[in-house]
Amino acid sequence: MSSRREFLKNTSAIGFGLVTIPNIALGVPIANTKEKINMGIIGVGLRGTAHLKNLLLRDDVNITAICDIDNERLKIAEKIISEAGAVRPKLFGKDEFEYKKLLELKELDAVIIATPWSWHVPMSVDAMRAGKYAGVEVSAATTLEGCWDLVNTHEETGSHLMILENVNYRRDVLAVLNMVKQNVFGELVHFRCGYQHDLCEVKFNDGQQPYGGGVEFGEKAISEARWRTEYSVEHNADVYPTHGLGPVAVMADINRGNRFVSVSSFASKAIGLHNHVVKLGGEDHPNAKVIFKQGDVITSTIKTARDETIIVTHDCNLPRPYSLGFRVQGANGIWEVDGNRIYIEGDSPPHQWEEANRWLQDYDHPLWKRFGEFASGSGHGGMDFFVLHAFVESAKRNISPPLDVYDAAAWSALTPLSGKSIAEGGVPQQFPDFTRGKWENRKPLNWMKGDF
Ligand SMILES: NC(=O)c1ccc[n+]([C@@H]2O[C@H](COP(=O)([O-])OP(=O)(O)OC[C@H]3O[C@@H](n4cnc5c(N)ncnc54)[C@H](O)[C@@H]3O)[C@@H](O)[C@H]2O)c1
Repeated sequence: MSSRREFLKNTSAIGFGLVTIPNIALGVPIANTKEKINMGIIGVGLRGTAHLKNLLLRDDVNITAICDIDNERLKIAEKIISEAGAVRPKLFGKDEFEYKKLLELKELDAVIIATPWSWHVPMSVDAMRAGKYAGVEVSAATTLEGCWDLVNTHEETGSHLMILENVNYRRDVLAVLNMVKQNVFGELVHFRCGYQHDLCEVKFNDGQQPYGGGVEFGEKAISEARWRTEYSVEHNADVYPTHGLGPVAVMADINRGNRFVSVSSFASKAIGLHNHVVKLGGEDHPNAKVIFKQGDVITSTIKTARDETIIVTHDCNLPRPYSLGFRVQGANGIWEVDGNRIYIEGDSPPHQWEEANRWLQDYDHPLWKRFGEFASGSGHGGMDFFVLHAFVESAKRNISPPLDVYDAAAWSALTPLSGKSIAEGGVPQQFPDFTRGKWENRKPLNWMKGDF
């Protein structure tokens, strides 16, 4: 995300001297709702630990069990829990499959999966089969088979899966969604989005610190460089589509009156990661010989059933400032996040961009108005509070989450489809209809309600 260091700083700055967020302050109606749920976390690396810290601030969640195959991460999590004055959780992680023992715990209601991508599908499937309310980090799956496994398991078991896409809860994104719902842009025509973030210091480190300091990846590295970089070696595809696509999908009613139909993708040359290795490690470093398959800039154009187009960019290997590059364009106007600018016909001066601040404030989302104070400091500018809040409140009611298994499948499917399209020279690939036709009659959620 925009600044992981800042994120960690903010998250730890919450501290545990602060009072927890009481149910009553969150204004939760208690009828038909569990007052408190027992939660497990599988994977307490950087992301799982951030979730842990945020969950410890709530008094409607017990952290009942945690699992990680890295004993050091378990120790860090245990210390955080003990410093928060919470009950010691059950610990798992003797091997890669001990998470299944965690899922057998009868008292467990819900589980968060914050492990490397290759584990998301098996762990989500096992969690749903065990009857747990599952939340999976992004992306949910990297293959079409994996996407279908998630959908089929949900349909077979009735257990829910939420994709924990925090960007859907970003303040500007929710304000623009509010504008979309109030028809400010008119009929929607075109979107742009993506993940544009220089990840060189995430993809390589020195095995001691999670960000940079060296050019190792795989077994000699820690945190994401240990597993994520492999996807840049093996795959020429948009491997991280949901931060951009998730918010746009909700604006475009995907799976609820609309759907992704096809995608055509192209990849540029791949020079960024090699250059980074040589710059920091020298020509003779063994990783200077690695061939990285992933093009530095991958561009996908999606066509929707309502004839909108969505350009999705994956741009993570070159020096550049962070941006998710959002653009929302309709018959009456356009918003672009880069440049913080907007144009609404009849309101903005003719043919001139306006600064977007006024509009973003006027259409501030009810959730942010209500919980903004709690949210600030929760990480990633506050959006981490909201995604967890939606997860916890949905799990307490055991209802379908706002970002459900069909969303997880449709958004994540861009990874295998973009890979196939690139390999075939840009040939359009058809998106499976993961809803099996239900998208036509499924109604958009009421995203403007102010509880979660
Ligand atoms: N939404 C966001 O803003 C955001 C930000 C960062 C990461 N993420 C996502 O969160 C997930 C985790 O990322 P991270 O940065 O925490 O990575 P990480 O490498 O720091 O943490 C992953 C953890 O999973 C553990 N693990 C691996 N296999 C396991 C297994 N079989 N059983 C139990 N534990 C296992 C590892 O030991 C490690 O501690 C990824 O999917 C990533 O894309 C999302």
